[in-house]
Amino acid sequence: MADSRQSFVIERNTAPVGVAERAKLLADPGFGRVFTDHMALIRYSEGKGWHDASITARKPLMLDPAAAVLHYAQEIFEGLKAYKTADGGMAMFRPDANARRFRQSAQRLAMAELPEELFIESIRQLVAIDKDWFPTVEGGSLYIRPFMFANEVFLGVKPSSEYLYLVILSPVGGYFKSGAPAVSIWVSQNYTRAAPGGTGAAKCGGNYASSLVAQAEASKHGCDQVVFLDAAEHKWVEELGGMNVFFVFEDGSLQTPPLSGTILPGITRDSLMTLARSEGLTVREEPYSFDQWRTDAASGKLTECFACGTAAVVTPIGRVASPEGEFKMGAGGPGQTTMRIKQRLVDIQRGVAPDPHGWVHKLG
Ligand code: PLP
Ligand code: COI
Repeated sequence: MADSRQSFVIERNTAPVGVAERAKLLADPGFGRVFTDHMALIRYSEGKGWHDASITARKPLMLDPAAAVLHYAQEIFEGLKAYKTADGGMAMFRPDANARRFRQSAQRLAMAELPEELFIESIRQLVAIDKDWFPTVEGGSLYIRPFMFANEVFLGVKPSSEYLYLVILSPVGGYFKSGAPAVSIWVSQNYTRAAPGGTGAAKCGGNYASSLVAQAEASKHGCDQVVFLDAAEHKWVEELGGMNVFFVFEDGSLQTPPLSGTILPGITRDSLMTLARSEGLTVREEPYSFDQWRTDAASGKLTECFACGTAAVVTPIGRVASPEGEFKMGAGGPGQTTMRIKQRLVDIQRGVAPDPHGWVHKLG
């Protein structure tokens, strides 16, 4: 049976993307459309455990039409980034936190748990082989997408006895196409993302599938993202479709919705709370209602608002729209606290500033 010390069979891609083509792609990759030459793959089956770890050419998968994931959506994923650092090296940001969350997501979806060291090792091996794929665009990084799905060929509803774990890499620039200094968000009144006891705190594909109709509504109303309210009262702000949310007040304090089990425990969220508190700022993890949000924005008590996540980093929110109308925070542009805290995070991630919390894992 394989364990976290197992060795990866390496089969190099015999037809990698050419140097000139790769350079073109890396100059303007956008988000999630460009992929590197290789992928990591590990199999799990009941009785045998984790086995057949490999790094191979990135290629389409062969799936049986009865593979459980295609029917009952037993699938989880992670998102983290590798950066070129100021000293010319490469580093990942808090991969141990992603490894832990991946295991917790697996528990919630009744899936096999991947040992955390194996999660990190699979990424180390893959980034090492595709190290020439870091984007050259300003602010670019190598987005790492580990994921796992149910691969048993069976139509009964039960936890699968077989899983495939993979990692793919995507050189990325900014997440938002518009590139605007602040994004707009739509408050979903018709749809919720997660209910107590549901899967809101797990990073499973199903959460994103169910957010798409609300995201489409946001786009229809000219907004970049959707923000969800709680399922029970339709009153409390939870999170965006793919990001956590923070509020900044005139007294300099910050507030973010608590981890009540219905939102994703974001690693960026956690890092920003630590950074803000180390600056002496007050950070509250407390519920915030949509009504209060509107009232505080109008009175000027609320001065800034931002979204945060691996893909979005820290993105100022300027405008909020709902069926009852819209409002802005301040002048609707990026706020000073938002931009300062973003810079502090990015400087640590890229090795420009010291890393007092041991978040940066060097690669290579
Ligand atoms: N909330 C949701 C729904 C997300 O998809 C993400 C992105 O991963 C986040 C929050 C932020 O999490 P993290 O900072 O760990 O990327
Ligand atoms: C991430 O930030 O890693 C996510 O998974 C969010 C998604 C919107 C790309």
